[in-house]
Amino acid sequence: MKIRNFNIKDYNKIIRLWETCELPYKPKGRDSKEKMQEELKKGIAVFLVAEEKGNLIGSVLATHDGRKGWINRLSVLPEYRKQGIGAMLVKEAEKRLDEIGIEIIACLIEDGNDTSLQVFSKLGYLEFPGMHYLTKRKYPDV
Ligand SMILES: CC(C)(COP(=O)(O)OP(=O)(O)OC[C@H]1O[C@@H](n2cnc3c(N)ncnc32)[C@H](O)[C@@H]1OP(=O)(O)O)[C@@H](O)C(=O)NCCC(=O)NCCS
Repeated sequence: MKIRNFNIKDYNKIIRLWETCELPYKPKGRDSKEKMQEELKKGIAVFLVAEEKGNLIGSVLATHDGRKGWINRLSVLPEYRKQGIGAMLVKEAEKRLDEIGIEIIACLIEDGNDTSLQVFSKLGYLEFPGMHYLTKRKYPDV
């Protein structure tokens, strides 16, 4: 198994991975091929995949806005879970963000995703009380 940068040629494979992992993603919005291509060009994304024998078995998309980093799209195929692959992906993403001076990293976890809450808590992420997440969306599927 190796961790490497995502390449836009992996697009169909990454979509299959996310579907299998039942990861909520936005194929008509920010996860469309075009939007991802743009995002990669902007240089604000550390998009990593775990690959074994040509198959994508995991992913993490870390983005930053110059001040703060975000962990998105963390996924590992069900049959590869609980072997430390998710942790490896997050740690590599954190390292890459640290190298460019990002000192705070956050992630958003949907209500009910207890596994993810536990995984991020194991990885040292603390729930931040008293915070509301507000967004303004150009269109519903953005
Ligand atoms: C979240 C996910 C990526 C974790 O991947 P993983 O490779 O199984 O995670 P790891 O094996 O690296 O585990 C990291 C830590 O979390 C713990 N952990 C993993 N799965 C767990 C679970 N279901 N319940 C409790 N703890 C869990 C591990 O024991 C490990 O802690 P340790 O170092 O103390 O042993 C995987 O479960 C997944 O793809 N889920 C579906 C997609 C998803 O919800 N993504 C997150 C969106 S916010």
